[in-house]
Amino acid sequence: MIIAVDGPTASGKGTIARALARHFGLPHLDTGLLYRAVGWQVAASGGDPDQVADALAATTFPDRLLADPALRSEATGALASRVSIHPEVRAALMQRQRDFAAQPGGAVLDGRDIATVIAPHADAKLFITASVASRALRRYIEMRKAGEDVSRESIEADLAARDARDTARSAAPLRQAEGAALLDTSALPPEVAIAAAIALVEKQTAR
Ligand code: C5P
Repeated sequence: MIIAVDGPTASGKGTIARALARHFGLPHLDTGLLYRAVGWQVAASGGDPDQVADALAATTFPDRLLADPALRSEATGALASRVSIHPEVRAALMQRQRDFAAQPGGAVLDGRDIATVIAPHADAKLFITASVASRALRRYIEMRKAGEDVSRESIEADLAARDARDTARSAAPLRQAEGAALLDTSALPPEVAIAAAIALVEKQTAR
């Protein structure tokens, strides 16, 4: 069974995807990490994330980078959003994601274009969303816990900029796929959102 989970930053899609993977006993891939690794690598090598050649060269990042906590920072998220605009970068990361989805038994993948581009044939598709205010608050709490010195205003501005880039780009923009179930987590505690997601997957796969 392939489960596709898409949605904007801090919508809760990562938490939900990990919980679905545990519940259904499937491997999970956070595809945002791949774009974060490219963003981190391009900056580390002194390249320009807005230049396609520099961003493309960074898609050959070493696998061990995926475990680096530096990828989780807001700054790396912003770099990821910039490199992900280039269709060439998206194409270079595509096969890796498709191979992961094609494992025997299936997988859970979360990102922006899983149900629209990477695995349109997924057995279950969820589009997770939440208001900008609730996403910014969650991200703020997460970042403070991680010891990052950030303000709520800067997080909200960053989220809005990233949303605009992710939805307006011409290559695989963020959108709810046809057949994807919408789950708004603004007012839901994590365990309630997870239970709702499990119920939606069960309903989709029972059809
Ligand atoms: O989900 P996360 O915040 O880690 O993603 C970082 C950035 O990578 C996003 O803002 C988005 O621009 C990009 N991304 C993407 N397609 C994906 C996953 C992430 O374009 N499937």
